[in-house]
Amino acid sequence: MIEVVNLTKNFKNIKAVDNVNLYIEPGEIVGLLGPNGAGKSTTIALISTLIQPTAGDVLFQQQSVINNPKLLRDVLGVVPQEVALYKDLTARENLQFFGTIQKIPKGELQGRINAVLKQVGLEDDRKKLVKYYSSGMRRRLNIGAALLHKPAYLIMDEPTVGIDPQSRSYILQAIKQLNQEDKTAIIYTSHYMEEVEFLCDRLYIMDQGKIIAAGTMEEIKAILSSEKTIEIKLERHSKSFVEALTTLKLLSNIQIAEAQISFTVEKNTDFLSVILPLCEAHNIVLKGFHVKEPTLEDVFLHLTGRALRD
Ligand SMILES: Nc1ncnc2c1ncn2[C@@H]1O[C@H](COP(=O)(O)OP(=O)(O)OP(=O)(O)O)[C@@H](O)[C@H]1O
Ligand SMILES: [Mg+2]
Repeated sequence: MIEVVNLTKNFKNIKAVDNVNLYIEPGEIVGLLGPNGAGKSTTIALISTLIQPTAGDVLFQQQSVINNPKLLRDVLGVVPQEVALYKDLTARENLQFFGTIQKIPKGELQGRINAVLKQVGLEDDRKKLVKYYSSGMRRRLNIGAALLHKPAYLIMDEPTVGIDPQSRSYILQAIKQLNQEDKTAIIYTSHYMEEVEFLCDRLYIMDQGKIIAAGTMEEIKAILSSEKTIEIKLERHSKSFVEALTTLKLLSNIQIAEAQISFTVEKNTDFLSVILPLCEAHNIVLKGFHVKEPTLEDVFLHLTGRALRD
């Protein structure tokens, strides 16, 4: 298990990482979700011992990685936020280069390169120069480079930013597969909540250097469990109906569209016993209703007062 304990990194007067605690166990996918400048990449640079912390420690199997970086480097793969590849080399040549500096034994390297090219779906393009690759293909090769030494832990820093939807979905599927088949533990950094929802068993939400929420998806959404949002569908509605609805004290955040109205109520409110008589009184047909789950975006908004994306 990797543990991050009271990790802090200051850049002059910026607290980029502020007393962060987190852990990742073998075989799980953990999300690190946060807006621009939250401190995600700095946390990753600290875990991968590329920079030194101002305070705190990173432990692997309960031993300090800061004092002994090799402990973790052998079992950790890192996919950096910025793509780092040689554009005048082919995919195969790039992997050859990275495998050599990672000191993968000569006898194993060709086999690993072939396996990785398959994992990231670049077998057919392996002889093409990287300068002719799309940004999605470059991202995939960047991921491949981090997988060559078969790391038990993989950290990915926003691997789907700025690429086409097809490559994005390929990458998300490849991550799931890597986790399920090779049991690779993954820290997945993103500011796309839907990716984190799709991939992760647990997540941390980071903002301004601090972890502001942690837990499973259910636990994090339960932060908002005192309320629920209801969408009702109507055949039509009238001005007098809407007026009557907006005077109901039980309802808040009322939003009105053509044939659909949404509102928030306290979790245990029996909203139907209020809405149905109102519809009847105004001769309005209720065609259906739907209780909406809170999203991570709602939680982030609740905790910080800001939207997750700029
Ligand atoms: N080398 C550095 N020198 C000075 N400040 C830095 C340095 N690296 C990061 N910072 C600052 O630390 C804070 C956290 O940056 P970081 O790159 O870790 O955020 P992030 O969550 O990865 O953001 P993004 O989503 O934009 O990648 C920011 O305010 C950033 O400007
Ligand atoms: Mg970053």
